[in-house]
Amino acid sequence: MIDVKLKKFVREVFPKGNIVAFTGAGISYESGIPTFRGKGGLWERYDPELFATPEGLAHVLHNDPGRMRAFMVETFSVLLAAHPNPAHLALAGLEKAGLLNGVITQNVDDLHRRAGSRSVAELHGNCFRIRCPRCQSRIMLERERVAEMVKLLQMPSDKDEARSLAHIKDRYFPKCRCGGRFRTDVVLFGETLPEEEMEKAYRMLDGCCVLLVVGSSLSVFPAASFPMHAKQRGAAVIEINLEPSEQAGLADYRAFGSAGEVLTEVLNAVRIRGRIVQD
Ligand code: OAD
Repeated sequence: MIDVKLKKFVREVFPKGNIVAFTGAGISYESGIPTFRGKGGLWERYDPELFATPEGLAHVLHNDPGRMRAFMVETFSVLLAAHPNPAHLALAGLEKAGLLNGVITQNVDDLHRRAGSRSVAELHGNCFRIRCPRCQSRIMLERERVAEMVKLLQMPSDKDEARSLAHIKDRYFPKCRCGGRFRTDVVLFGETLPEEEMEKAYRMLDGCCVLLVVGSSLSVFPAASFPMHAKQRGAAVIEINLEPSEQAGLADYRAFGSAGEVLTEVLNAVRIRGRIVQD
C-alpha cells in the first residue's frame, strides 16, 4: 500500500523524529464512526445547515424536537460504541517512541486520547466534554453519564416532546456558576475555533519536519490550510486517505488506503513496531 518512494522516506527520515499528525474523520472510520462527506457520510442524512450551525440546531430543537432526539441518540450511540483502532494506536505509539510531537485533530470523538496520545490539539472540541459559552469553563463527562443520557433520550416520553427534551437538556447541560448554560463542547460552523488549541496546533506545525495528514478531505478551513502552512515552513507532507483530498496535489508523498493498514505499514517500515508493542 505504501510505495517504494514513501517506504524509503519513512525509513530514512522518521527515525529523526519531529513528526506531527493532522487527522480527520477518516482515521476513525475503522472504529465505526462514519465520516462527514461522501457516501454514507453524516451530512448525507443530516443537513449541516441544520445540524452543524447554532441557528440550525435552535431551529430543529424548536420545530422538530423528535428529529433532534434521533440525531443525538444516533451520534452519541456511535461515539460511545467506538474504540481506538490500529491507526490511533500507531500514532500514540510513534509519540511514545519519541518520534511524533503530537496530533492535531478535527475529530470530536476522544479516540486519540483513549489510544494513549498525550499531545493532542482538538480543533473542533470534544463530544465528551461540556463548555460554558459565557466563562469558557469546561468539564469532561463520564462515559457512563453520556450513556445514561442516551438511554433517557431513547425512552418514550409521557410529556410532550419539546418539554421532555428540555428536561433532559437541563439535567445534562446544567447552569454554570457564572449563570451561563453548559453545552456540548463542539465547534459548530460559523463559530470561532478555540484559541488555545489553535496556538497548540501552530506550535506543532511550525516546528515539524514531517506532517502526516490522515483521513481528511481537507475541505474545512482554517484547518485545511495546515498542510500548506507546514509545507511553506519546510516540512514534508504525507497524505494518507482512502481517496485523494482536495489538496492531494501539494503532498510530497501519498498513500491511498485505510488509515489502519497504511499506518501499520509505516510502523513496520520504520522498524519500531516491536518497540512500540512492548511499551
Ligand atoms: P470528511 O468526511 O470531509 O473526509 C473524510 C476523509 O477520510 C476523506 O478524504 C476520505 O477519503 C477519508 N477516509 C474515509 N475512510 C478512511 C479510512 N478508513 N482510512 C483513511 N481515510 C479514510 O472529514 P473531515 O475532513 O474530517 O467539522 O471533515 C472536516 C470537518 O468537516 C469535520 O471536522 C466537521 C465536518 O463538517 C465540523 O463539524 C465543524
